[in-house]
Amino acid sequence: ARKFFVGGNWKCNGTNEEVKKIITTLNEAEVPSEDVVEVVVSPPFVFLPLVKSLLRSDFNVAAQNCWVRKGGAFTGEVSAEMLVNLGIPWVILGHSERRALLNESNEFVGDKVAYALSQGLKVIACIGETLEQRESGSTMAVVAAQAKAIADKITNWDNIVLAYEPVWAIGTGKVATPAQAQEVHAELRKWLRDNVGADVASSTRIIYGGSVNGANCKELAGEADVDGFLVGGASLKPEFVDIIKSAT
Ligand code: 13P
Repeated sequence: ARKFFVGGNWKCNGTNEEVKKIITTLNEAEVPSEDVVEVVVSPPFVFLPLVKSLLRSDFNVAAQNCWVRKGGAFTGEVSAEMLVNLGIPWVILGHSERRALLNESNEFVGDKVAYALSQGLKVIACIGETLEQRESGSTMAVVAAQAKAIADKITNWDNIVLAYEPVWAIGTGKVATPAQAQEVHAELRKWLRDNVGADVASSTRIIYGGSVNGANCKELAGEADVDGFLVGGASLKPEFVDIIKSAT
């Protein structure tokens, strides 16, 4: 069985005071045990040590990005080794905002995922189509190409969570319907079975992201191939707790 996974991607948000408030809310929340749901919160780099030090021990932290290879003369970047050194277990890679705004290619994301895994990080790898791609009927071709660029560079999928985040649903309030999410998740799982292996297909968690909130999470969580969520806006609010609770 795949353990339900709920990630909170805070994106480029938060002040020192706001971060402490969010953590207090999470720390006081009554949620299902860590045998039932894996919770990972992802603040901006500068808040990682603070969040790690304050956050309850049954939740974990993720960075939102890291450099593609070993650190060195790369001004402004943060390396996978640094995250490991600070005890940060997870990193989000390939988020659509970075693909679109910072021109991260499928291949570059694949290289990043492979390097982060090689350093011992666990990776939330994001894929997803734009509205234009969906309307032209190329959703599956797009997400398969994104998945293939990762699959080509790695051999072990134990430390990967695949996040399907349709770009048209991110930050728009236009959540995918449960049927739309399930359709792509099931096709992705089939893609994994056909191109990677049956074990990887059945054990890899495929989580949904894009306008998930406290009101729509329960129905999405009921779909067979939806193994959790990557939450943006709602992860900064108390309703993130309700999303964690949708695990049961
Ligand atoms: P929203 O939940 O704000 O739509 O963002 C989703 C997302 O991009 C999570 O990585």
